[in-house]
Amino acid sequence: MKKAVVVLFVLAVIAAGAAWGLSAPTYISDQDAATLKVGEPVSGELVFWAGGCASCHAEKGAKGEDLLKLGGGLRLETPFGVFVAPNISSSEADGIGGWSLADFANAMTHGTSPEGENYYPAFPYTSYARMTGDDLGDLFAFMKTLPAVEGKAADHELGFPFNIRRGLGLWKRMFLDPAPVIGSPVSGNDVDQALWDRGRYLVEGPGHCGECHTPRDFAGGLELSKWLGGAPAPTGDGRIPDITPVDGGFGSWSAADIAYYLESGFTPEYDSVGGEMVHVQENMARLPASDREAIAAYLKAIPAVAAN
Ligand code: HEC
Ligand code: HEC
Repeated sequence: MKKAVVVLFVLAVIAAGAAWGLSAPTYISDQDAATLKVGEPVSGELVFWAGGCASCHAEKGAKGEDLLKLGGGLRLETPFGVFVAPNISSSEADGIGGWSLADFANAMTHGTSPEGENYYPAFPYTSYARMTGDDLGDLFAFMKTLPAVEGKAADHELGFPFNIRRGLGLWKRMFLDPAPVIGSPVSGNDVDQALWDRGRYLVEGPGHCGECHTPRDFAGGLELSKWLGGAPAPTGDGRIPDITPVDGGFGSWSAADIAYYLESGFTPEYDSVGGEMVHVQENMARLPASDREAIAAYLKAIPAVAAN
């Protein structure tokens, strides 16, 4: 009897130790760090729009030049609590002006802060983890040119246990995987492989389209088997549409329709884009036409997800 208690106790200690070890933050490899270099702000601006950083880190409702003031403060309501987007402007005191490029790459691709803390996935690093080193270097260079905004954003409003960042390490082990979601174009489509690859990169990586268009499981991880198959709106009202080529649904949009929607905000029925897609569409309109065509090519040749 006594022995059994001791064994249980030892097992509990081992389990706790393993969980602690498994929840440790991860970092880019030394090899990847060595290849990073601060790039070109002009290319970085396109990465910035593709990544939609201003949609969360600029002030709510910001337009024009104000989209480049990344002081944070936007409140993101989720089932786990309220996240407040932080200041990521070039301010050394309140933003990320003092960060190295490696700090930035660790945040974007490993969800790890310079202090070694885990970030919450409300910051869509699960998608940004697929970004190339070149794009990260260019984006970093562009963000250095943006104005310093003084003042820290408010703290997140989270209850126990969601307020413990360490636990996110386990979540990241389950859901942070930079491998592509869709391995290759669905056959039967006449696909330009290079165009499709570019579309996959934009959608699965910087564009983080899956973060809204894919349903989540109980733990807040994306259900990859229903990739882009539509999801309940995080705010509780309405649904985010299925953007896979389903018959009788989005499948009736041609590649040209999709590219035109991303450019103009008009659907084939001449409805105009609404809700949270408005910012995404405005960002996509700033990219070269070839990038919108690439996204369209990708969306036309991925598995159709039946209504869920
Ligand atoms: C959907 C909203 C959203 C988008 C889009 C977004 N972020 Fe964030 N970001 C957040 C939130 C929320 C946090 C805070 C995470 C935390 O505290 O764990 C954050 C944190 C960060 C941090 C860490 C800041 C710090 O002080 O430690 C960096 C860097 C960052 N984001 C950069 C970016 C860049 C660059 C982009 C565009 C490519 C971007 N974010 C797009 C919501 C977003
Ligand atoms: C912040 C959440 C969010 C993100 C990120 C997002 N979308 Fe959307 N998307 C929406 C919402 C909400 C709608 C519905 C818009 C409406 O009601 O007009 C939508 C609508 C669409 C539609 C029109 C579908 C239809 O049947 O009307 C397309 C196409 C689309 N999104 C593509 C994309 C692509 C491509 C990306 C990534 C570059 C993306 N979305 C990223 C929220 C998002």
